Amino acid sequence: MTSEYATYPSLRDTVVLISGGASGIGAEFVAQFAAQGARVGFVDVAVDAGEKLVAAVAERGHPRPLFRECDIRDLDAYRRVIGEIADELGDVQVLVNNAGSDTRHPVGDIEPSYWDERMRVNLDHQFFAAQAVAPAMRAAGRGSIINMGSISAHVDLLDLTVYMTAKAGIEGLTRSLSREFGPDGVRVNCVLPGWIMTPRQVENWLTPEADAHRTAAQAVPQRLEPADVARLVLWLAADDSRSCTGQHWVVDGGWMHS
Ligand SMILES: NC(=O)c1ccc[n+]([C@@H]2O[C@H](COP(=O)([O-])OP(=O)(O)OC[C@H]3O[C@@H](n4cnc5c(N)ncnc54)[C@H](O)[C@@H]3O)[C@@H](O)[C@H]2O)c1
Repeated sequence: MTSEYATYPSLRDTVVLISGGASGIGAEFVAQFAAQGARVGFVDVAVDAGEKLVAAVAERGHPRPLFRECDIRDLDAYRRVIGEIADELGDVQVLVNNAGSDTRHPVGDIEPSYWDERMRVNLDHQFFAAQAVAPAMRAAGRGSIINMGSISAHVDLLDLTVYMTAKAGIEGLTRSLSREFGPDGVRVNCVLPGWIMTPRQVENWLTPEADAHRTAAQAVPQRLEPADVARLVLWLAADDSRSCTGQHWVVDGGWMHS
């Protein structure tokens, strides 16, 4: 990135929980919340990457994040780990529902068991994590829940049926929870990234043809980085966005038009 991050005083010492925080966009969230002085807990199945990230953040002199191995498809285990993180760091004040997986599949190949598993990795955990942290947020009269959606729910892509269905569901989930939790001061928003150049995206999908398509589709031509999403998420977590809830926020270089 070419410029420094804004500093949000309200994020200092805030307890932040991030799912899928060991790599990709989630790793940028972990690093940037810690750089704001937040107390970050994160879960992931990628243990090596998670431990390396903790060490790298601490080396920069930021508060050491707390990493717990957890497969968020196992909802009982995930609920238990959320409780353990809250016991260690304090009640969760910001939840970033980030874990997801965009594997491709032709429609004819989808079996019910695969459908269920993909919904668990992309949708179910977002609801149950919000359900787990909400009582403490509501009791405190404040909190910010940020759900990671995708512009793919608004554009016509092939071989992503389950993922796009889950991502569309996350927008409904966001609106419903924002209405339910709003009276107690808890905000719920949804972030829709465009094509963000994580290491996995670059390795699996970034061909010259795909990049040319991306450049033509976006209003501004630059490749989008995890930092572009982190800047928006920090703002949504901070008190600076205190009157914003129930919305989806698009960071896609001007690809999708809603
Ligand atoms: N990269 C993009 O272009 C893009 C675009 C739109 C939306 N998104 C969304 O942003 C979020 C992050 O995407 P990303 O590109 O960084 O993905 P990524 O695959 O690079 O990283 C996802 C992280 O989640 C973890 N994870 C996967 N399954 C898990 C499980 N069962 N339990 C615990 N952790 C698990 C992975 O180990 C990984 O660390 C996702 O919700 C994704 O749908 C990404």
